[in-house]
Amino acid sequence: MKLSISRFNPERDQRPYMQEYEIERGSSDHMLLDVLLRLKVEDDTLSFRKSCREGVCGSDAMNINGRNGLACITRTSELREPVVIRPLPGFPIIRDLVVMLQ
Ligand code: FES
Repeated sequence: MKLSISRFNPERDQRPYMQEYEIERGSSDHMLLDVLLRLKVEDDTLSFRKSCREGVCGSDAMNINGRNGLACITRTSELREPVVIRPLPGFPIIRDLVVMLQ
């Protein structure tokens, strides 16, 4: 699966940039969050929030292929590749896909 993910480390980067990833689809990668969690094993610098994994808490809200959604209830089978993932628009970015929600 090909992904293009917005990265931003305020200690190092002037502005966000897109990083390309390619990861084998796993048999249990039903939702986008499953893929992101496996990606984080390979690149532990990638930051995003998640909690309930059931579409309730909203902590993994992000912009996915131009639409705002929750990674834990976004089916990988319905995503066109490369999957372009950005932080929720309109909020200050803390790091990568983590924004200040206030
Ligand atoms: S992790 Fe709670 S809504 Fe996705």
